Amino acid sequence: MATSDSQPIVIVTGGNRGIGLEICRQLAARGAQVILTARSRESGEKAAAQLDGAVDFQPLDVADPTSVSALKDYVQRTYGRLDVLINNAGIMPDADGAGLEVDLDTVRETLETNTLAPLHLAQTFSPLLRQSAAGRIVNISSGLGTLADMTGGHASYRISKTALNAVTRILAGELHGIAVNSVCPGWVRTDMGGASAERDVSQGADTPVWLALEAPQNLSGHFLRDRQDVAW
Ligand SMILES: NC(=O)c1ccc[n+]([C@@H]2O[C@H](COP(=O)([O-])OP(=O)(O)OC[C@H]3O[C@@H](n4cnc5c(N)ncnc54)[C@H](OP(=O)(O)O)[C@@H]3O)[C@@H](O)[C@H]2O)c1
Repeated sequence: MATSDSQPIVIVTGGNRGIGLEICRQLAARGAQVILTARSRESGEKAAAQLDGAVDFQPLDVADPTSVSALKDYVQRTYGRLDVLINNAGIMPDADGAGLEVDLDTVRETLETNTLAPLHLAQTFSPLLRQSAAGRIVNISSGLGTLADMTGGHASYRISKTALNAVTRILAGELHGIAVNSVCPGWVRTDMGGASAERDVSQGADTPVWLALEAPQNLSGHFLRDRQDVAW
């Protein structure tokens, strides 16, 4: 792939639908080289084909270490660096529920995708992010992970997003020069958010795209909604 040093190279996980697809659309429209990833090749290729700009579909199941390793090899070989990693892929299982009732296997499954996968991706791609003049990691979290007003229900999802915010803080403390932030996209109309949600995907994608391309490089270790700090 022919990319210039000034064209940001951005990986988006779960880029085939919802907020992830819209993040890819906005990034490509602003001239980024987007690596749109999805666990379904068919769905990912279809999503990439509908976008204008530099969009490179690559398969990625974030919870599968072999898949993560294959993507790293591809990015290293093809681009030689990574500027931005957007950990967007996430699940809210139907079997989620009250903390006193939720099956622990559901909690484990949710933590695998929503928390451990972003951590593993950051570990895997940090050497390539260090090759960037302005490396960034954007973790798509949720207001449901906010400890400041934590309450019952959606236990596995809440736990996974609170822990993802901890991942953000830890990596921000360790990865000097690489900006690491969490985003709450708000309540967005997607398969996960449902039809009654108050925001469209373009609003949900705005802050992640801003953090990926425009935010000050020294903004790191924050939790943001609408480009503003919110309580952890
Ligand atoms: N919508 C909201 O109101 C809202 C609010 C707060 C936070 N969020 C967060 O925003 C992010 C995007 O949510 P969304 O609303 O766009 O949800 P969505 O429409 O349900 O899309 C979820 C995306 O994650 C992907 N995914 C799940 N597990 C994966 C895996 N193991 N490997 C690769 N991809 C995987 C899905 O791929 P498949 O198509 O293969 O399933 C899909 O692309 C999530 O992290 C979510 O928690 C959403």
